[in-house]
Amino acid sequence: RKPVTINTLQTLYRKNEPITMITAHDFPSAHVADHAGMDMILVGDSLAMVALGMEDTSEVLMEEMLLHCRSVARATKAAFTVGDLPMGSYEIAPEQALESAIRFIKEGRVKSVKLEGGKEMAPTISKITTAGIPVLAHIGLTPQRQNALGGFRVQGKSTASALKLLEDAFAVQEAGAYAVLLEAVPAEVAALVTKELSIPTIGIGAGNGCSGQVLVQIDMLGHFPPGRFLPKFVKKYGDVWGESMRAIQAYGTEVKSRAYPAPEHTYLMPKEEFSEFEK
Ligand code: KIV
Ligand code: NA
Repeated sequence: RKPVTINTLQTLYRKNEPITMITAHDFPSAHVADHAGMDMILVGDSLAMVALGMEDTSEVLMEEMLLHCRSVARATKAAFTVGDLPMGSYEIAPEQALESAIRFIKEGRVKSVKLEGGKEMAPTISKITTAGIPVLAHIGLTPQRQNALGGFRVQGKSTASALKLLEDAFAVQEAGAYAVLLEAVPAEVAALVTKELSIPTIGIGAGNGCSGQVLVQIDMLGHFPPGRFLPKFVKKYGDVWGESMRAIQAYGTEVKSRAYPAPEHTYLMPKEEFSEFEK
């Protein structure tokens, strides 16, 4: 497979072929996503919760994001990689954001960065893209701002907030973002934003009228214990938790019964050597 570049994404967009994107947080999760043919791999700060067990995404540090980006980058041969700028690494000033973005490219080894925010982040997006680093803008439900949004709620449900979303989308496009991620937005609104823009939209909980879709890998694989809350937009395509449980329980049972290790898993000494040794 040929490496996906910003031009490949443009071509998919022009052909109206949906762009596929999934998160990854380490070498194995990136390896499988890349081999499965994903166009884009996002090292999302959702890894704070799904891979590091943190309360929310605001807890994850720059160094931690860089470590995870690097391990994802090592496994990714074709997909276009995106690193999520963590909360606190880009909001203070465009210069701070550019410094963080440069670290993502140089140390994280990803191809582009994502940041949360619309119109108010336009100067920042412009600063980063002008330096030659592609930016994916994230609007709608922006989890890093959950305390200001009053939790995880669908955005753009009223006429006023839908207009604000459209305004944000235009502003980030104007600022040079190569695509816009729309999270938790009514399908009609996301479809209209997609129609109005001349760059791709990547949806998560934004209906099927977007130019592409993204899901959190751990969620869509079913790699979590039963009973966990899942947002409405998550489709469980697998049961990795169930498969892991089955395998680890089988291993435990076989160790207890001494069925494992069997002869085929065991090294033996030549018989003559052993009888010598036994003496
Ligand atoms: O952090 C993440 O995984 C994300 C996706 C939900 C888009 O930002
Ligand atoms: Na994120």
